Amino acid sequence: MEYMFDTVNIDDIKHYSEFFKIVGITSNPSIIKLEGKINFFNHFKEIRKIIGMDKSLHIQVVAKDYEGMMAEAEAIIKNVDDKVFIKIPVTEQGLKAIRGLKLKGVGVTATAIYTKVQGLLAMEAGADFIAPYYNRMENMDIDPQDVITTFASMIREYNYSTIILAASFKNMGQVNSAFECGAQTATVQPALLHAALEMPVINKAVEDFAGDFETVFGKGVSIVDL
Ligand code: G3P
Repeated sequence: MEYMFDTVNIDDIKHYSEFFKIVGITSNPSIIKLEGKINFFNHFKEIRKIIGMDKSLHIQVVAKDYEGMMAEAEAIIKNVDDKVFIKIPVTEQGLKAIRGLKLKGVGVTATAIYTKVQGLLAMEAGADFIAPYYNRMENMDIDPQDVITTFASMIREYNYSTIILAASFKNMGQVNSAFECGAQTATVQPALLHAALEMPVINKAVEDFAGDFETVFGKGVSIVDL
């Protein structure tokens, strides 16, 4: 059960990495849009510097055709680093690009997955990660639990090394459910994790404990003063 941050906001990555253990950073053009016109390659190099080489960095292509995807993947590898996982949407052209990139030894994350057939074809094409879109599936009345459970059982049954990197979450209940269905990894906006620990009842419990201690030992006294 691992988490990634679905953001390219440098401040958020720095800040929230102090609190949450993550195994990588994911991005796509819509996530980049939230930051405006970034200096594309430099921005990702900076993220790499922050997270280090032992965490995974996932960058998506924009081209829709095989040749364009391959050219963009090459540019990303050349200008960021050769450990980047190239995110490829699972279309017909995308499947060809996944196979092409795997032949070259490039790490691939198959993305924009709404259906079982997309995920299974991407696994068979050699994708290292498959990214089922949990919330977007629910919006379309596709059952994400059924889809993710099928991926997990196929991976087990046929010994694929593919990792299920569940994505597109609007609340932590969806994230937990993806894990329960067999996703090994979930990518989430840091704000979702933050909000999950900001529940008033949690803060009240902490306040109550502090109040009880103060009643016994006096105001401003800490355990280190005892
Ligand atoms: O990682 C994929 C994810 O960013 C898609 O999420 O919120 O656009 O459905 P969303």
